[in-house]
Amino acid sequence: MSSDISVHGQRTVDRISKHVYGHFAEHLGRCIYGGLWVGDDNRVETADGIRMDTVSLLRELGIPVLRWPGGCFADDYHWEDGVGPREERPTRRNLWWAQGREEEFVEPNDFGTDEFLHLCEMLDTEPYLAVNVGSSTPEEALDWIEYCNNDDETDLTERRAENGHPEPYGVKYWGIGNENWGCGGRFAPDEYGDEYRRFANYLRGFNNHLDPDGDMEFIACGHLTDEWNEAFFENLEKGMEFGPGTFLGMGSPYELLDHFSVHRYYQAGSDTDFDEDQHYRIFARTRKLADDIDRAAATLEEYVPTGDVGIIVDEWGVWHPEATPDNGLEQANTVRDALTAAAAFDIMHERADVISMANIAQTVNVLQCLVETDEDDAWKTPTYQVFDLYGGHAGNTAVEVDVESETKTFDGEAHAVEMVSASASRNDEELFVTASNRRYEESETIEIDVDTEYSTASATVLFDGQDSHAYSRKDNAEAFEPETLDVEVSEDGNYVLEVPPSSVVGLTLERA
Ligand code: AHR
Repeated sequence: MSSDISVHGQRTVDRISKHVYGHFAEHLGRCIYGGLWVGDDNRVETADGIRMDTVSLLRELGIPVLRWPGGCFADDYHWEDGVGPREERPTRRNLWWAQGREEEFVEPNDFGTDEFLHLCEMLDTEPYLAVNVGSSTPEEALDWIEYCNNDDETDLTERRAENGHPEPYGVKYWGIGNENWGCGGRFAPDEYGDEYRRFANYLRGFNNHLDPDGDMEFIACGHLTDEWNEAFFENLEKGMEFGPGTFLGMGSPYELLDHFSVHRYYQAGSDTDFDEDQHYRIFARTRKLADDIDRAAATLEEYVPTGDVGIIVDEWGVWHPEATPDNGLEQANTVRDALTAAAAFDIMHERADVISMANIAQTVNVLQCLVETDEDDAWKTPTYQVFDLYGGHAGNTAVEVDVESETKTFDGEAHAVEMVSASASRNDEELFVTASNRRYEESETIEIDVDTEYSTASATVLFDGQDSHAYSRKDNAEAFEPETLDVEVSEDGNYVLEVPPSSVVGLTLERA
């Protein structure tokens, strides 16, 4: 079996934001409690209650941005419950998700704003906070911004200082709600447009008046349908007509938002129990992400004349039927899942001109996680390895790629599945090409034609010798580590790779 990839190094798309490799961590199952925070449990090394084995794996990877506290949880979260002396914090319901392994829908509030922002400092990560729109007020959101970012002396900044952080945190990314068409308040799009305008008016007002040097960015929730998205934008303009609010520095509704978000999950069969047909079908379903981005981009082009609102895919990944609220959305993490992550990145690189960020759901133990933990250990999943390999694209300029490979079609699927998926990017010194062989059982000879000369070539491969069904456990995680792959050069100067079934390769070409 063979395929050809043509890399057009001179046909650039745009810079790939490093935030495309972002993460999402919710108060859900064992993501926060057990995965990132263990408090006084000293079975693993901790720093201020945060578990260091997880932190060290995430540091090794590098996390550019981390979205918190939800998810659905965000629109039933009251941030003041989670600050101040821990023993005085209230225990609340967790409306949506069981916490830890206890299967109780209870939120202890041990991990709150200061713990999260401390974690971000430890990880050298940009925090992204999602405010409660569905069950709260602009006042609560504004107070949260004041607590985090204000530099003046107020009661809230004094509380921040008492809680150990006199300096403002300077949180840049603020999501205004989460899935507000669903768990975040079940708003009709025009209602969310009203709410968004109201919340963003105050939050942008804080930014423009009290923190003019602060570079805050606000994120509106989108939907997967054009109807919802269009109605949202049409409604956003209402209410600006009667007074532009020039003294606030807000002349147009588009100054109220910097990003527009979409979410996409997919599955085919179960986590480890799937057949060859389902192995392929999941790639057809991952492809829906491309449609979502293209549709959101078309809406933005129509409604946002300034052209400077980016698309954030702020939740994405596989969600298998095994992951349910009762088990904290836990599922096995396979090689097949990791191949879908490679597919998602190929889609996003191709659209680097419109994508400003993407956050996988979720960082630790939940859904398509990168790190799994038990009471004593933390280890990497196959998806971690794809993030690590693909991280070589972050900050590079994406270039156009043509792939010629066998394509399979499946009844009922909107998209065909190419046996090979790829993307490429370059910087001043290097060209980096990533490619997946999605064949279930056969290897693929991939010949890569590059239109620019480079002097050295090296390659690595992920999952050689692993089955598509193989999944990470504490005792086998090292089997998914990258290995060196031979690169041959053909008579006409193309790079030839023998790529094992269900595997991902990275080819690095360097200038002399
Ligand atoms: O990631 C799990 C849940 O999926 C999130 O809480 C919600 O936003 C989405 O529906």
